[in-house]
Amino acid sequence: MKDASNLTHSADATTVEEALAADNHQGVVDSEGATALAMQNTLLTPRFYTTDFDEMDAINVEPVREDWDKLIERMKSDPNKGHFKKNEDWESVDWENMEPKLKAEFIDFLVSSCTAEFSGCVLYKEMKRRGNNDDIVTLFQLMARDEARHAGFINDALREAGIAVNLGFLTQKKKYTYFRPKFIYYATYLSEKIGYARYITIYRHLEANPEHRFHPIFKWFREWCNDEFSHGEAFALLMKTDPKLTETWQNKLWIKFFLTAVYSTMYVRDHQRPAFHAALGVDPDWYAHEVFTKTSEITKQIFPITLDIENPRWQKGLEAMQRANADLADAKKNGQFFKRIGAMVRAGSAFIGLYTIPAVKHQVPVTTRLEPAY
Ligand SMILES: [Fe+2]
Ligand SMILES: [Fe+2]
Repeated sequence: MKDASNLTHSADATTVEEALAADNHQGVVDSEGATALAMQNTLLTPRFYTTDFDEMDAINVEPVREDWDKLIERMKSDPNKGHFKKNEDWESVDWENMEPKLKAEFIDFLVSSCTAEFSGCVLYKEMKRRGNNDDIVTLFQLMARDEARHAGFINDALREAGIAVNLGFLTQKKKYTYFRPKFIYYATYLSEKIGYARYITIYRHLEANPEHRFHPIFKWFREWCNDEFSHGEAFALLMKTDPKLTETWQNKLWIKFFLTAVYSTMYVRDHQRPAFHAALGVDPDWYAHEVFTKTSEITKQIFPITLDIENPRWQKGLEAMQRANADLADAKKNGQFFKRIGAMVRAGSAFIGLYTIPAVKHQVPVTTRLEPAY
C-alpha cells in the first residue's frame, strides 16, 4: 500500500482510505454554510445510513458467482483511476459573476450531490470494515473507493467557489438512519441506478447542446455514471442471491414503496432548482420523465414491477406533491402551524395517490447482467 501522505489527489487513490487522506479532502476552507446544508436531515435531503452489517456479511454470492467475478474483475481493473480531477478540459468558472439565484441553486446541487456520494462512501466503508466475507469486503472496498473519489471531485469544484463540505465532520456528527439490509438493497440499488440515469441524461443533453454547459464538471458525468452503473449491478446481484427479496408479495409492495419514494423525492427536489435547470436548458418535467423511463427500463433486470409513469394520475400526483412541499417550506419559514399540518396532509395523500396507481408487472430475466446503454 502506498503512503497516503504522498498522495496528492483522491482521483489517484487505490483504496477508500487513501482517497479520504488525499490532499483535496483536507484543508477545508470556509465550509460552515455548506456543511450546515449537508447536515440537514429532512425527507428530501441525502441521509447517512447504518444497517445490520453481520447479516449483510453472511450473504453467499455462489448463486451468482460467474457474473459476480466478472463484475469484481472489472471494478478491480479500475478504468476510472485518475479520472476524477481537473485537467486541461476544466475551464475556469466565473463564480463571482454567476447570477445569484443560479449560484445558490448550483451550490445546493453540488453540496447535496457531494453528501449523497459521501453517504454511499460511509456506508460501504463501514461494511468493508466490519465484514469477514471476502466477496462482500472486496466489493464494498471498491465501491467506497469510487464514492470517495466522486465526493472529492465535487469538493474540488466547490472549493473554487470558496466553500467545501467538511466530510470528517459529517462522518462524526451527521445523524445515521438505521435501515435493515433488505431496505438498504432496495434503496441503494435504486439510488445507484437513478444516479446513473440522471448523470447520463444531463451528459447526453449537454453533448447535444454544449452552449448550456455552464460548468466543466458536467464533462466528467459519463465516466462518473458508469461507476454508479457498476455499483447498481452489484446490488442487483446481491438481491439475486435471495429470490425472496424480489418475489414475495410483501417485498413487491416494499419495492413499489421505494420506487415511489425515490422517484417522487427526485421530482420535488429538482423542482426546487428552477434557475439551475433553466441554465442547463432542461425542462425539469421532461428531465424527470426521461430519468424515470431509463431507470424503469434498467430496474427490470431485478424488480418484477415498474411504476406506471404514463398513467395520467402519475404526473398529476407528482405536481400535487410538489405544490404541497412548496407550501410546507413556506409555512415552516413563516411559522404557520396549521398551514404546515395542512401541507403535510396533502403531501401524504399525494404520496398515497401515487403509491396506489397499479404497477406494471413483467417477467424478470434469468441473469441480471446489463451494460450501460444510454
Ligand atoms: Fe458515486
Ligand atoms: Fe455509487
